[in-house]
Amino acid sequence: MPTCDTLICDVQILDGSGGEPQTGSVAVDGNRIQAVGKLDGYSARNAIDGEGKVLAPGFIDVHTHDDLYLIHNPEMLPKLSQGVTTVTVGNCGISAAPVQLRSELPDPMNLLGNAHAFRYPTFSAYVAAVNAVQPAVNVAALVGHTALRNNHMDRLDRTAAATEIESMCAQLRESLDHGALGLSTGLAYLSANSASTEEVMALAEPLFQAGAIYTTHLRSESETVLQAMDEAFRIGQHAKVPVVISHLKCAGINNWGRSGEVLQSLDAARGRQTVGCDCYPYAASSSTLDVRHVDERATITITWSTPHPEMAGQTLAQIAKACDVTQIEAARRLQPAGAIYHIISEDDMRTILRHPGTMIGSDGLPNDPLPHPRLWGTFPRVLGYYRREQKLFSLSEAVRKMTGLPAQRFGLTDRGLVREGNSADLVLFNAETVRDVATFADPARVAEGIEAVWVNGVLSYRNQAVTGQRAGRFLPRQSIT
Ligand code: ZN
Ligand code: CU
Repeated sequence: MPTCDTLICDVQILDGSGGEPQTGSVAVDGNRIQAVGKLDGYSARNAIDGEGKVLAPGFIDVHTHDDLYLIHNPEMLPKLSQGVTTVTVGNCGISAAPVQLRSELPDPMNLLGNAHAFRYPTFSAYVAAVNAVQPAVNVAALVGHTALRNNHMDRLDRTAAATEIESMCAQLRESLDHGALGLSTGLAYLSANSASTEEVMALAEPLFQAGAIYTTHLRSESETVLQAMDEAFRIGQHAKVPVVISHLKCAGINNWGRSGEVLQSLDAARGRQTVGCDCYPYAASSSTLDVRHVDERATITITWSTPHPEMAGQTLAQIAKACDVTQIEAARRLQPAGAIYHIISEDDMRTILRHPGTMIGSDGLPNDPLPHPRLWGTFPRVLGYYRREQKLFSLSEAVRKMTGLPAQRFGLTDRGLVREGNSADLVLFNAETVRDVATFADPARVAEGIEAVWVNGVLSYRNQAVTGQRAGRFLPRQSIT
């Protein structure tokens, strides 16, 4: 009689491929899925009745800023509670490693943590730290372009010189040798905005040989978004590497209604090269407070401010009124600060979310004292609100966007699908009740309907709480195609 550690019986299996659900059982032994199907006569140390529930591959949060948070909070409740079993860190040009700080932390690296938390001068030092704390979720990591610039340049408001590019490339190569997924940029931020396309092209060159990926927070997400997408595609073509556009959106009231054009450009590129994108299921963005993004017509909520921490939770309009200044002036006085910008149209966001090439990425900011609710709510919100209530897509399609698709895109070859022999990252949820509870007013709330989460075969979350067992690991890059 076959034996296994865990048997999840009589459950609806959504395997992550986008195919129809199958009723059956899944046997887990050690850190692997041992068998899938009609499993009669198995003896298991732990048997779980999955009747009426859905079993899916653990969700992959392709866009996070958990780099330093997961070192200090390895239980990773904001993600585990959503059914997330793998996070990708190092997005938007900012990463915890490799970082050698000489002076102040440049914006937006301050989103990741304080200067003293940046302790990883090499990528391998970060890998060692992740493995030493053993977070509850798996971690795959990109190297941030802005982090590299800050290591090798005396100022960030110019493009890099040839010798600086050479040093950055050497550091990137070393990181790739230690398993980095690829390079991310945040060209919209002032710390990288002066970098020429050629600078990024030169940095993208080492990615090809390594079988790595280029991901980008575009140079513009508003008026010139199409040109910015074009730049990203040209960089990918130049280096012959896959491109992922991070948190694709049409930002700013003047750009509402442009999701069709944006997706047309994405689809046109898909005919020529490998490209994808991710999206979070909210009509509001969040980042550091940037005076260039202040728009009196839009609601902007301050989430933190170094000189004025007491202003967190208020809108920029309220603050400006109380101080009797313009919103731009109020924003200047609050910096450095964080903000939530209600500057996305719900229709555009839905159109992008629904697109078959779109993966789900939370872009959550775990160090924010008043975080955007996407940190705690993204995945259950897609499964509950957008799938069950708004019927944007089927359940199997929603799951594919969180599992099979991102695993393929990022080369996580034995994850993202419920298949015999794959790593046993699994989530058991109730499709009728799963929902996000986090709101803008009360963002740090555990979702409902996520019943159990296994990471590498270990039951890590159950009954709305962590089990205390942590089994995540650093995932070195496998070849990405
Ligand atoms: Zn970003
Ligand atoms: Cu981001």
